[in-house]
Amino acid sequence: MSTAEQRAVEIRLEDYTPPDFLIDTVDLTFDLEPSQTHVRSQMKIRRNGDHDRALVLNGEHMTLLNIQVDGRALTENQYVLTETTLTIPDVPDEAHVVIENRIDPASNTALEGLYQSAGNFCTQCEPEGFRRITYFIDRPDVLSRYTVTLIAEADLYPVLLSNGNPVAAEKCTDGKHMARWVDPHPKPSYLFALVAGNLTRITDEFVTLSGKTVELGIYVEAHNADRCDHAMASLKHAMRWDEQVYGREYDLDVFNIVAVDDFNMGAMENKGLNIFNSRYVLAKPDTATDGDYAGIESVVAHEYFHNWSGNRVTCRDWFQLSLKEGFTVFRDQEFSADMGSRAVKRIADVNLLRQVQFAEDAGPQAHPVQPKAYREINNFYTSTVYNKGAEVVRMLRNLLGAETFRQGTDLYFDRFDGQAVTIEDFVSCMAEVSDLDLTEFRQWYDVAGTPKLLVRDEYLEGQYILSIEQVVPESANGHPYMLPFGFALFDEAGEPVLLDGKAEHILIVEQSSQSWTFSIEKKDADLLVPSLNRGFTAPVDVQYDYSDEALGLLSRADTDAFNRWDAFQRRIQRCLVSRIKVAMDVDSVGEDALPEDLSKAFGQLLLEAEQDPMFVAECIALPSENYLADQFEHDTPVEWIHHERVRLRQQLAAEWELTLQLIYQSHAQEGAYRFESRAAGQRQLRRQVLSYLCGLNRPAWTQLAKEQFDRADNMTESFNALIALSVSDSAEFDHVLTAFEARWRHDPLVMDKWFALQAQRSDAGALARVQDLMAHPTFSIKNPNRVRALIGSFARTNPLRFHDRSGSGYQWVADRIIELDAMNPQIAARMASVFNTWKRFDGNRAALMCAALRKIHDRPECSADLAEITGKALGHSFD
Ligand code: PHE
Ligand code: ZN
Repeated sequence: MSTAEQRAVEIRLEDYTPPDFLIDTVDLTFDLEPSQTHVRSQMKIRRNGDHDRALVLNGEHMTLLNIQVDGRALTENQYVLTETTLTIPDVPDEAHVVIENRIDPASNTALEGLYQSAGNFCTQCEPEGFRRITYFIDRPDVLSRYTVTLIAEADLYPVLLSNGNPVAAEKCTDGKHMARWVDPHPKPSYLFALVAGNLTRITDEFVTLSGKTVELGIYVEAHNADRCDHAMASLKHAMRWDEQVYGREYDLDVFNIVAVDDFNMGAMENKGLNIFNSRYVLAKPDTATDGDYAGIESVVAHEYFHNWSGNRVTCRDWFQLSLKEGFTVFRDQEFSADMGSRAVKRIADVNLLRQVQFAEDAGPQAHPVQPKAYREINNFYTSTVYNKGAEVVRMLRNLLGAETFRQGTDLYFDRFDGQAVTIEDFVSCMAEVSDLDLTEFRQWYDVAGTPKLLVRDEYLEGQYILSIEQVVPESANGHPYMLPFGFALFDEAGEPVLLDGKAEHILIVEQSSQSWTFSIEKKDADLLVPSLNRGFTAPVDVQYDYSDEALGLLSRADTDAFNRWDAFQRRIQRCLVSRIKVAMDVDSVGEDALPEDLSKAFGQLLLEAEQDPMFVAECIALPSENYLADQFEHDTPVEWIHHERVRLRQQLAAEWELTLQLIYQSHAQEGAYRFESRAAGQRQLRRQVLSYLCGLNRPAWTQLAKEQFDRADNMTESFNALIALSVSDSAEFDHVLTAFEARWRHDPLVMDKWFALQAQRSDAGALARVQDLMAHPTFSIKNPNRVRALIGSFARTNPLRFHDRSGSGYQWVADRIIELDAMNPQIAARMASVFNTWKRFDGNRAALMCAALRKIHDRPECSADLAEITGKALGHSFD
């Protein structure tokens, strides 16, 4: 074990005890200076329970100036100070504690606590950043009322913001000014925020259900003032939706959003003062793509929804993280589904779950939705906690039905308002309002890994029998899961078959092996095709022995759009995986023709382009190389995956070339850009179609892409042309790339697309190019968005070059992670997960990946964040 691993103690759920002291009110005064910010904190503390333990406050990376208890200054022998704590042994049961300390925001590159971004001050406190601001009981079950006074130079920092409502503002004599904010809602320290800076405010208002007017503000740098309309519209939609769907109203006079360029995550739900990564706020048609617009809509909604699911009702401890995150992701997913296309949203969400969460669950970082132990809580903001957590809440909704689920959420919000609670509390509300015994359902929160369902069926004289056998992860000890399972049956004509008189069924699966017998009206049963786990009702891996013909039928005729997409994707995946296996065996790319049924199904989907362009675009998108790689347990054939995927794309394009061209033309944009479902669907379809065509490397098609780029009046069409060209080997690509840079080099968010595309391009020069781009004037290793765009895209979306046999890709990425770790351990730790899969590669690659992990891990100065991730990847056990 490395030094860092030894230093970091393991925190266990089972060891939870309530806090020894509570802090009822806290009054903070900040005198803001870039490298010397002075903080004064006045707390009313109260002993919690009957004990005589000391008051222990958390505090890191700061200078203690003085402490007073009930008006008397403490001398050095009256407290104990360590690198992470301040202990005061003798305090009365109730006391007034005043602490002054100093911090250095200007040199804070970890972007946790109080830091500077573009010269402005901002904070990030979740999960444990508050302890870098002042000494405090920094845990989510200590809820306090905050009063915050900000003092700063008036001309440099004209805007002063914190949580709650503004109550005072005045000029000081020395060129400084002050503002005071009071938050009437008790909150945990992780929801504290302040912002001080030179920002422009975009305003609007919202009238709540009960007629209260809320002032809405979005704060950005002046040059971005014209990029806030979409975020503002999304916010108002989200506020209305939460009233209509969950009966939840907003509860302060103001709601503010601030966009900052340097931010580790997407955004943060601080009470009344959400702080956002600027990429999830800023958009106008010529700088943002449809994907960016959709991302903004969902993240703005997500953070807003936290006001109830997270802030009003919060987490008792960090093991309950999914209580707020799983639930809130489910809420934002449903919101986006209501704003746009429900089916397409579901496809996108499940795609992400399968590509990221299933992979996480199958690798060395696997953990339950409710983890049982951690060393560094920052490492648990994962796809499992967020996305699998959302699927678990969705299953509850599906088990209870929408109406009863709403009764459950009403009960939950009413009963626990103003409290810090557990996942168990949430589930018990659901059990209470329904007649369901959810004891067994709890397994979804407690066990890591993706269950497999082996499905078989049989037709027997007027009866149809469906059997499901569960293959559960090892840590479930053979214990079965409880889950809702959407199911329907189709005949050879693609017509739904009535089972017990009904076309649609939601089965409750709860035994290791279970079967259902239905009476069936159908006389001859030549071909009966089951549609399983419809709408992806449960996050499981369903295995059923479909014929190619059956998959073709479902992709054409299933009445569940998600399962149509899934059937076609399964068919493509089957073709690719078998081709890749052959290529591995004979050590060369195959020459076999395009399977007729697959080609026909593809053509049939194209016929529907007019009706639902977005859906068709999703269907014809080939599975990613990474997802294909996940289908191999060992000796991942990196090169064959790439080459066979390219070959299939070319075969489909060659076969359907004319149709693709026609579709491309008939979906040309009419009128000005609008982010709206159908228009966005058409653009997405044109992107897919153009990529197929450009992959053929014919001048006619690359010219078409070039023309699209030249004519485009919005970023979506402009960048889509670039994407299409990037899969060709046309020289046009470089010209267009240069033109793009010339136009956007002063716009970092747009340049992130440019960096990412070049990092992703699979040509032999990829690594050298990425290395050169590190020196580009717009690149900065201190900015997490740039790092993700360039280094992250290379490591995550360019498997051919990252996994280059020489090991050059691994070495370069490992060195960048080491470089990052000195500045921002969280970003370094997240990046390191690209080495998680080392066991799935051939001996040579596995050894190189392992060596990279060891190089990162074995440094004495390795951060706790990074040591935990790399240690687990290396298989270190922590007991
Ligand atoms: N709580 C934030 C969200 O999901 C995410 C976040 C976590 C942001 C930690 C910053 C730090 O909305
Ligand atoms: Zn969240």
